[in-house]
Parts: sequence; C-alpha cells; structure tokens
Amino acid sequence: MRGCGWTALRHGVAWFPFLTLLFDTATGRLSPNPIQDWTLRTGRAALLMLVLSLSVTPATWWRPLRGLKPWRRTWGLYAFAYAVLHVYILVGVDYTWRLDWLWADLGRDKPYAWYGAAAWLLLAVLAATSPRRVVRALGARRWKAVHRAVYGAALLAVVHQALAVKGNVLTLQGDVRRPLLAGLAVAGLLLARAVVAWQRRRRAVRRALHPTA
Ligand code: HEM
Repeated sequence: MRGCGWTALRHGVAWFPFLTLLFDTATGRLSPNPIQDWTLRTGRAALLMLVLSLSVTPATWWRPLRGLKPWRRTWGLYAFAYAVLHVYILVGVDYTWRLDWLWADLGRDKPYAWYGAAAWLLLAVLAATSPRRVVRALGARRWKAVHRAVYGAALLAVVHQALAVKGNVLTLQGDVRRPLLAGLAVAGLLLARAVVAWQRRRRAVRRALHPTA
C-alpha cells in the first residue's frame, strides 16, 4: 500500500505514542515522577508496536490488505526503537549510567528485568537482520527462521510487563489489565498463525496424495 496517505498512516501510528508523551511532558500532564512515566510509556509503546507488527501478516491473508506486508518490518523497527528509548531512559537518565544498579535489578528482586533484557536482545537481532542486504546474505529460508523469534520477543515482553506491573495476573488482582490484553493479543496471533500453517500443510499433503483432484 503505497502513496503519501498510506505512508503517513504507517509512520503516524508509530509516532503517536512518542508525540503524545512529548505533548504531556510539555504541558505538565505527567505524574510527579516523570522519568518513571517515560520508562513505562516507552515500554508500552515498544510492546504495542510489536503486537501491531505481528498483526500485519494475518491482516494480509485478506486479499485487499496484501499491500500491507512492508508495514510489518517498519513497525517491528519502531518496536526496537521504542525498546532502545525505554532502556536508555531507565539506564541513562534514571540510573545515570550506573550499570551496577542495572546489574542489581537483574541480580536481586526484579526477575522481570531478565525477561525485558531477553526480549531486548531478540529485538536487536531482528533489527540487525532486517536490512535488505542482510536478508539477501542470509537467504529467505534462514531469514524467515530467524524472524520467527519475533513471537518469542513478544511473549518475553508480555511476561516482563506482567511481572513489572503492581498486581498479580494469575489472581487478577491489581493493575493487570494491560498485560492481560497484550497476552491475549499475542496468544491469539500465535494461534491464528499456527492454525493457518496447519491448514496449508494439510492442503499440501492432500495435493501430493491426489495430484489430479
Ligand atoms: C534490558 C531490557 C529492559 C529492562 C532493563 C527493562 C526495565 C523495565 C523496568 C525497570 C520497568 C518498570 C518501571 C517501573 O515500574 O518503574 C519496565 C516496565 C516495562 N517494560 Fe521494560 N525493560 C527492558 C526491556 C523491555 C522491552 C524490550 C519491552 C517491550 C518490547 C519492555 C516493555 C515494558 C513494559 C510494557 C513495561 C510495563 C509498563 C506498564 O507498567 O504497563 N521492556 N521495564
């Protein structure tokens, strides 16, 4: 889907969380702890972009939306950009580059930091392997296998959020609305992919067994 309008929509959706964050900062609408607001909202934006990127493929199963395919890569790269900003705000701004504080998070009572770090590393690998010349060098088959890791990154990010929020997703107590929504979205998208892959495989087997049918 080309043209100025589509391009504006593709990038506008991705910039929206950042622009609203800037607007809220400039107009004094943040909480008394603005650095925490930035950490949380950039983390949420990273996860949102990841879910949007994952929903592109199922959307393209409907013929009129086939042209959306390149949006998957764009939104995936925005997810990584927000994840970089999220970690920069935390480590660079909040911890003022005291890496021992980050290390303490990882080592002590914040297991969610491990899930975040794992999701971040997977997103970094996906971003590093997304330029066209890397795709060509890897070959389509290997590139596809590597890029399936996007589901792993999304699941890790959901667990990271579920553990980071003040609440308990298992007992549905506290602030669990967002991780529940994100978890349902990622699980639904994974299920849809699995069902379609299974149907395609079944059709291919049937065609191989009855080539003239
Ligand atoms: C080294 C990597 C990461 C670290 C150390 C990290 C650290 C953190 C911390 C400390 C918080 C809680 C902030 C607070 O409660 O004050 C948080 C929340 C969050 N992070 Fe991360 N994060 C990392 C990577 C990621 C990635 C890759 C994503 C998404 C793709 C992500 C998404 C989120 C979300 C959605 C929240 C919860 C926001 C909410 O409360 O709804 N994080 N992270």
